[in-house]
Amino acid sequence: MCGIVGCILKDDEAAPVLLECVKKLEYRGYDSVGIATPSSKINIRKDKGKISEAEKNVKLSDLPGNMGIAHVRWATHGIPTQKNAHPHTDCNGKIAVVHNGIIENYKELKNNLESEGHIFKSDTDTEVIPHLIEKFMDQGFDLEIAVRKTLDMINGSYALAVISTDEPGKIVGVRKESPMIVGKGDGDYFLASDVPAILKHTNNIIYLEDGEMVILDADGVTVKNVLGEIIEKEIHIIEWTPDMAEKGGFDHFMIKEIHEQPDAVRDTLMESSEIEKIVNNLGGIERICFVACGTSYHASLIGKYLFESLMGLPTDVILASEFQYSSKAMDEKTLVIFISQSGETADTLKALRTAKKRSETLVIVNVVGSTATREAKHVVFTRAGPEIGVAATKTYVSQLTCVYLLAAHMSKRMDLVEELHKIPKFMVEVLDNEDYIHRIAKKYKDAQDFFFIGRGFSYPTALEGALKLKEITYIHGEGYAAGELKHGPLALIDDGVPVVAVVAPGNIHDKTLSNVEEVRARGAHVISVGSSDDEILKSESKDMMVMDSEIDELISPIPYIVPLQLLAYYISVEKGIDPDKPKNLAKCVTVE
Ligand code: G6P
Repeated sequence: MCGIVGCILKDDEAAPVLLECVKKLEYRGYDSVGIATPSSKINIRKDKGKISEAEKNVKLSDLPGNMGIAHVRWATHGIPTQKNAHPHTDCNGKIAVVHNGIIENYKELKNNLESEGHIFKSDTDTEVIPHLIEKFMDQGFDLEIAVRKTLDMINGSYALAVISTDEPGKIVGVRKESPMIVGKGDGDYFLASDVPAILKHTNNIIYLEDGEMVILDADGVTVKNVLGEIIEKEIHIIEWTPDMAEKGGFDHFMIKEIHEQPDAVRDTLMESSEIEKIVNNLGGIERICFVACGTSYHASLIGKYLFESLMGLPTDVILASEFQYSSKAMDEKTLVIFISQSGETADTLKALRTAKKRSETLVIVNVVGSTATREAKHVVFTRAGPEIGVAATKTYVSQLTCVYLLAAHMSKRMDLVEELHKIPKFMVEVLDNEDYIHRIAKKYKDAQDFFFIGRGFSYPTALEGALKLKEITYIHGEGYAAGELKHGPLALIDDGVPVVAVVAPGNIHDKTLSNVEEVRARGAHVISVGSSDDEILKSESKDMMVMDSEIDELISPIPYIVPLQLLAYYISVEKGIDPDKPKNLAKCVTVE
């Protein structure tokens, strides 16, 4: 994970701009932050902690010059401390590097460099890079060649930005299996881990491919391939506006993004005809396999229920990190659908690269230009706009919208598309009722454990509700298929334990109610999500989050997740946690 930025500006000081850009990348990691600019020496300001905390100790933007590099860290090698914060330098403080990714052979390289007399200051894998570049520059190579020679020695994944006092005015960037984009403004040039970081300055974006190198200097941007040859790259004009990545009056990105969900569903529904075209080009599919991680995995689980119930198509769902061990049954008649909001999750990309060797691949993704969009055969875009909060919300409902559109077109169920158009209204009704959910959150904020139960289409919703709670409140939350309770978890139900029951109307309603009875009989406090006209459920519940009675079971997963997102959000706020930046987590996980 980690986020990196680099810039060369025509008229302005770089450090304040780098700081502002890197704040937009904080969702990628917030263990530490650092900025470096070159002059006669490398000037560095860095510290551990979130940027707001680091700023109290270190004047991060107090650095000279119109160019530099910056970093926010999600620690892999070396605990979050000032010395492990990036940028890292060589022995003489003439070269500085920021890095996103992992250098797998760093131990061996470090031992060799130390035996050659290099002095290391950190416990990171990254620090071998400036020392290797130093070694090659000492042998007379220029910065660009020294970086290339360094790349020949390192194994692993990286997006790197490098500066050197010997070649001031130049930033060298490279990518391999970690995202990097380049921004070409009017005399101002940028590189960054993603687009929102620099969107305020330019929307002219170049996407780098693996192995490509970019050189930024006062004259502009030059991209070279692995052989060092200059290549022409297409400039993409990005439609996202800078204020789409601002809080817009809300306390946190997460609650803003929860409120954006009706629009996210509406906008994603406009992809219907694109999806129809893709479906028309799919031939002879006999089996579906969804592959994803985290919240995207829960969207995939709903896909299984949907494809199997609408078409009877055998559908598997595999966690991307397990794909290598359980994908043997895939063949050319299998459509493998990858779901990833970022399009950069390392586990998902690895599975995609394996799957495309023998199966048809389709990716459902939010970030235009992300790696997954370039690797999969078919691409479906969710139109959620930039999502900054680490806990996925609006991208989840947009993913589900795409899954439903795919299923509707494949099964020719146009009535389902019509149903989907009602969802934004159902979501608005929940959002109008958020004060009530806030009150429930206050009541249960000190609970130690939560259980979430549901059957059928409501089972993945229970899992996703539990994941949201875990991620941003640090309360132990477990999701279960309601029928599984009696096979173990029931032993954990005691007086006052909150059990969130997702009870959409329809086939599964009565059976889920029996499970609600079972937990109530053991003293659980039932918090239910169900239809406003469900009087029995109301009488069984201590608290009930009501949904429009017109919501059909089939589409219920999309609106029914909203109250669970709000519940987790308000518990997080009541506990004094920052829901946008949950500890130990990052939004985009580019390591396996
Ligand atoms: C991380 C994020 C989750 C996300 C998961 C998969 O763990 O914190 O919110 O669901 O990655 O990410 P993707 O971008 O592939 O959907």
